[in-house]
Amino acid sequence: MRKKITLITGVVGEVGQALVKSLAEGRDTNLVTMDIRPAPDEITHLSIHIQGDILDKSLLARLVSEYEITTIYHMAALLSTRGEFTPVEAHQVNVEGTMGLLQLAAEQSEWRKEPVLFIFPSSIAAYGMPDLKTKADFPRVREWEWNYPITMYGCNKLYCEMLGTYFSEYYRQLAAEQPVMLDFRCVRFPGLISAFTVPSGGTSDYGPEMLHAAAKGEAYTCFVRADTAIPFMAMPDAVTALVKLAQAPKSGLRRCVYNVTSFSLSAAQIRDLVVEAFPAAQISFQPDVKRQRIVDSWPADLNDEDARRDWGWQPAYDVNRSFNEYLIPNIIQRYQK
Ligand code: SER
Repeated sequence: MRKKITLITGVVGEVGQALVKSLAEGRDTNLVTMDIRPAPDEITHLSIHIQGDILDKSLLARLVSEYEITTIYHMAALLSTRGEFTPVEAHQVNVEGTMGLLQLAAEQSEWRKEPVLFIFPSSIAAYGMPDLKTKADFPRVREWEWNYPITMYGCNKLYCEMLGTYFSEYYRQLAAEQPVMLDFRCVRFPGLISAFTVPSGGTSDYGPEMLHAAAKGEAYTCFVRADTAIPFMAMPDAVTALVKLAQAPKSGLRRCVYNVTSFSLSAAQIRDLVVEAFPAAQISFQPDVKRQRIVDSWPADLNDEDARRDWGWQPAYDVNRSFNEYLIPNIIQRYQK
């Protein structure tokens, strides 16, 4: 008998780290984590960690021979800015890596005669607005609007949303006997802000970077214009969204891909909140034309009413609670240590 486990890929990333802690605090004790990077002790204490590449087919085969995977949280990805510097590698990790895990989950679902649950984080990067007028005219987009991403990462996420939906609903649709299909569920996240980790390689990074720099007493030059607005979410809500969607009864889910969001802010509004908490903060704006273009293509807000209706999504941290109860106190403590 193989041991039943939940697999988390990309666990050393920002979402992965927060997620594994939350799952371990809950009832999930059979956690196996993967990352190409070694994991810090706090992760290896909570899970069996495998340092390895999701593209390594023999590693995945060994994993399946040892464990019965019931749930996959597939967090491994190269983000939007990084992906523009290494597009081929981004495609390999983001698309081929996801394809490999979807195939694994599809095979395991058939073998178990029970769907493997596949939880996938997508992103506002799946949207692409052509210009600022469009962004102003369509401020709160639905899942199916403006799906014209302009980054490799955004293209990868949008395609993998479709691939996951395919594996979940249409896989081997012409076979004589319908296989048991995997259960793919996906959230489109806004920019995420954590008090404990800083992102790397993203384009929404100016939000968290501004805050962490101020807490460290470092000057920060923001790479987008002060009026640039996109949606954001505090990390605890991001984890809640993933776990809540995973736990939702399948019968209530009318889509595979759901927008989720909490609050939208301009870069100037983030600066004001940061300065309120850290009055000595030195923040200036020096837009990088190319990164600005990427953020300008992302919507100012997301319409997440389907998630609210189908599985009771509700952010616990609005902008005030995010900054005053979660971000500022934890960041101060983090850098005081
Ligand atoms: N935070 C991501 C990025 O900036 C968006 O999902 O790439």
